[in-house]
This record gives sequence, structure tokens and C-alpha cells, in this order.
Amino acid sequence: MDFTNPYTGTDRHALKGTSLAQAIRIDMAAELDAINLYTAHMETAEDPVVKAMLHHIIEEEKEHLAEFEQLLYRLDSIQREKIADAQRELEEHGKAA
Ligand SMILES: [Fe+2]
Repeated sequence: MDFTNPYTGTDRHALKGTSLAQAIRIDMAAELDAINLYTAHMETAEDPVVKAMLHHIIEEEKEHLAEFEQLLYRLDSIQREKIADAQRELEEHGKAA
């Protein structure tokens, strides 16, 4: 089994600013991958206790993803602006529908 290199795409010795934001994006990708992996396992598990525990773990991974998002917004002002733009665009499309 291969495990993730924790420093893939980042500078191991100077995680700050842009490189720290890159690391947080990698962390977010790992959370998304975990959510999808655990969801697939929950959907196919037959044991109800295992299903319930996987559901609980998935909820925790979603919380982790939200926390990483907040860290990224703190580190990347352009990302913050883009999220605000996307929310405005979504609201505009919602008004049009
Ligand atoms: Fe997590």
C-alpha cells in the first residue's frame, strides 16, 4: 500500500505564505478523497454498526474540510475574493431561475 508523501508539491522547510496555502490545498484534496472513499465503503458495507461508524467518520471529514477551507481563506486573499464572487454569481443565477 502506498501512503501519501506529506511534502508532495511543497517546500518541507518553509511552509508559509504561498507554500503553506499549497499544503492546505493538498490537505483539502485528501479530505475530499477520504469523504468519497468512506462513502463508498459505507454504501457497500452490510454491517449496520460499521455503516453507522463510517457515517460518523464521514461527518468528521466534512468538518475537517471546512476547517481547511477556513485556513486557506486566511492564507489566500484571492481565494477569499473568488469565493465571494462565486456566492454572488450563484445568488444572481438563483434570482434568474
Ligand atoms: Fe480528516
